[in-house]
Amino acid sequence: MCGIFAAVSETSVTSALVGGLRALSYRGYDSSGLVIAQHSGLQRRRAPGKLEALSSLLKEQPLEGFVGIAHTRWATHGAPSETNAHPHMTPKVAVVHNGIIENYSLLKADLESDGYRFNSETDSECIPLLITRNLDKGMTPEVALREAMAMLEGSFGIAVIFASESDTVYAARLGSPLVIGQGATGHFIASDAIAMASVARNLCMLEDGDVAKVRVNEMSITNNAGEVTHREMKALQVSEHDQGKQGYRHYMLKEIHQQPEVVRNTLNHYCDNASFTLKDEMFPANLERFDRLSIVACGTSYYAGMVARTWFEKYAAIPVEADVASEYRYRESPLSPNTLSLFISQSGETADTLAALRYTKEQGLSCISLLNVDTSTMAAESDSFLRTLAGAEIGVASTKAFTGQLMVLLLMALRMAKASGRLDIAAEKAAIKELFTLPVGLSNVIDQLASMKSIASSLVQSEHTLFLGRGTGFPLAQEGALKLKEISYIHAEAYPAGELKHGPIALIDEAMPVVLVAPPGPMMSKTLSNLREVAARGAKVILISNHEGIELASEHITHAIEMPDCDPVMMPVLYTLPLQLLAYHVAVLKGTDVDQPRNLAKSVTVE
Ligand code: F6R
Repeated sequence: MCGIFAAVSETSVTSALVGGLRALSYRGYDSSGLVIAQHSGLQRRRAPGKLEALSSLLKEQPLEGFVGIAHTRWATHGAPSETNAHPHMTPKVAVVHNGIIENYSLLKADLESDGYRFNSETDSECIPLLITRNLDKGMTPEVALREAMAMLEGSFGIAVIFASESDTVYAARLGSPLVIGQGATGHFIASDAIAMASVARNLCMLEDGDVAKVRVNEMSITNNAGEVTHREMKALQVSEHDQGKQGYRHYMLKEIHQQPEVVRNTLNHYCDNASFTLKDEMFPANLERFDRLSIVACGTSYYAGMVARTWFEKYAAIPVEADVASEYRYRESPLSPNTLSLFISQSGETADTLAALRYTKEQGLSCISLLNVDTSTMAAESDSFLRTLAGAEIGVASTKAFTGQLMVLLLMALRMAKASGRLDIAAEKAAIKELFTLPVGLSNVIDQLASMKSIASSLVQSEHTLFLGRGTGFPLAQEGALKLKEISYIHAEAYPAGELKHGPIALIDEAMPVVLVAPPGPMMSKTLSNLREVAARGAKVILISNHEGIELASEHITHAIEMPDCDPVMMPVLYTLPLQLLAYHVAVLKGTDVDQPRNLAKSVTVE
């Protein structure tokens, strides 16, 4: 969602600010802007739409200076217009804000009654106005900022510059992450470490309640209690770098192709590749003491949890509940002390998943998370966390993070099976050895699916599609439908194939293509029966199955995507590929913005 980038440097910061915003643009945004401190005062440029609009504006009306703050906004309060774009400012102070100010209506009424006028429809504008009122009362910039923060309810990460202190940027955090980077020319502040790659070598995370005062050569941080505090500087990790598209047309395509590498890295991290055993120490301790597992996540991460439910139940014989976080946190489900709560999130910042984690912690339960960002809020707040090793994922539609999640969840299911005595050493070795063949299997499938375009072209004119599957094929169908609707804007609905006759079959006609996920196994013949039912009613069918499945249903299929035979344990990871590539090619043929689809944000930090 919104992105913050700020800089205080020996050299002009304008291009660093625009570069920082560009690095953050993958998070999703619909307007952008910046303010630079000059001797003549604070100067602002803002533009609705893509960053190119801001760059063009800066060409027409250049702005240079050594201190500045910048923002990409994803609209919540108020339309994506220039007036609502950040920074918000008065002549005395300018602010960029991520998060939500929940008591802004009250603050607005209070400020207006004191004669302070709002120019935008945003909740964020109350921050510069509160600070200005404090400055007008004679407070110093730092005190004015602290006093304003004390009045805010909700969550925020902010960067602030003052006209009267034009060599300094302040950064403050309550809920929304902020990192400070140290570079050769000065200091930089960002809402996401990925924006630091081209300017800083070392960085530190602010903690909730921190206020940082940052100049070219100095930085001081005070904590919640106003005491001077130290936050450890760490070297920027390679995984935090956006390494460009590397010759691929889109990040999404690059990230699809990176999946064999992600799987290999995950296996090497969690398994011993000489003995083909799990590295037990990489997993949380005392797993045997839990008799239930609760999985909570959103979107694609939730579908990874749904696939994993089958694994935990099958291999570890542990009952699993999987919930979407936005429902779970309000459901007030009775929680038993022997339940292990597992939160899955690639960003580690998703507002609902984070709130669900906090709710569960308050109930005194053990909370672990599965995350792709080590420096995220969920990493800091979980009892412990497991890493996905997907590296920075730039495409808004998640691909390699999903595969990474599946792999860690599978290994964790095996670890729990081992802890409960259900997986002996011979079975462990056999399973891990088999899994080490998966990266090559994935690469082969990616190569085989290079010709997916003609199948994708059959969906381009469709307005609706239905995805069907059984067992782990159902959450995969859900993930395939999500990918298609996210990036091609075609309505795609996923159903358990067995539910077809309980309603959705009424939708079937010649205009409703059906994508069927039917891997070999005990449920294949039932899924193929469902295939015949939709084909008999005129639906064009795209079948994803093995050679046998395709042979069995050949006369009813419009298109077949043949998958290699594989160990059932690896099936969900392999069968993810055609679903991702199908969505990708449909979107490319439709000409949509594949990497930054409309309305979507990579990191959903509001409810
Ligand atoms: C879809 C997608 C989203 C995210 C969801 C949760 O391609 O990426 O559905 O999975 O917004 O995000 P995280 O995993 O960061 O909690």
